Amino acid sequence: MATRTQGRASSRSNNSETKSSGSRGRSADKSSSTERTSTDRSNSSSRNDGSAFSWGDSAGPLLGAALAGAAIGFAANYGRKALMQGMESMAGDWDEILAAEHDLALAIFDKMLATDSTQTFKRRMLLMKLTHALDKHAHQEEMVVYPALREANEAVDADHLEGEHGYIKTFIYELNEMGSDSPSWLEKVREFRQLVSSHAHMEEEEVYPRFKHGLSEEQNARVTSLVNRDGFWMA
Ligand SMILES: [Fe+2]
Ligand SMILES: [Fe+2]
Repeated sequence: MATRTQGRASSRSNNSETKSSGSRGRSADKSSSTERTSTDRSNSSSRNDGSAFSWGDSAGPLLGAALAGAAIGFAANYGRKALMQGMESMAGDWDEILAAEHDLALAIFDKMLATDSTQTFKRRMLLMKLTHALDKHAHQEEMVVYPALREANEAVDADHLEGEHGYIKTFIYELNEMGSDSPSWLEKVREFRQLVSSHAHMEEEEVYPRFKHGLSEEQNARVTSLVNRDGFWMA
């Protein structure tokens, strides 16, 4: 019989993440600094263009623009996180949030399985997206839900589930190593999807309902809040 987890074919999609970074370095003019005389040194306080860390006359506007850019970047990232996690928190309780994330991961697997060996770029992009989604999801479970399970004397299941997360990471490692044009790529993805599907099934159909049943309303709200907070920083 098809279960809720195994039979689900969600078409939700995730926003791709855009990151940017950059750094610039400057080097000091060594020869001029070693030949500098005492007179030069006495004048150095009024001359800052020889310093490796001199900002020059235009430092004010440049520094202001850099700080403004950083502030905009931080605000945009914060907004993106809030949006992403906000969308998930609308799903309800912690177990519903996690079930929605299972759907999202399984939908990415389905897109991967619909590719052929010529679509190497698409395969790499989908694998990156899947890796990010599973990383965030596993972090929420490993930092909040599994510890709460252990606290509720459910350590055997928590340890089993956390052990499976290790094999999920192993699949990601193997897929990255084999290359997206490998003839065994699809078969590897199929095996990987099966593990994630049965893992999600155990959580959604057995472990989480039993654990939730024993929680007070307050404890349930606390777990939801902690899952949301962790997911926010991982988004
Ligand atoms: Fe899990
Ligand atoms: Fe999960």
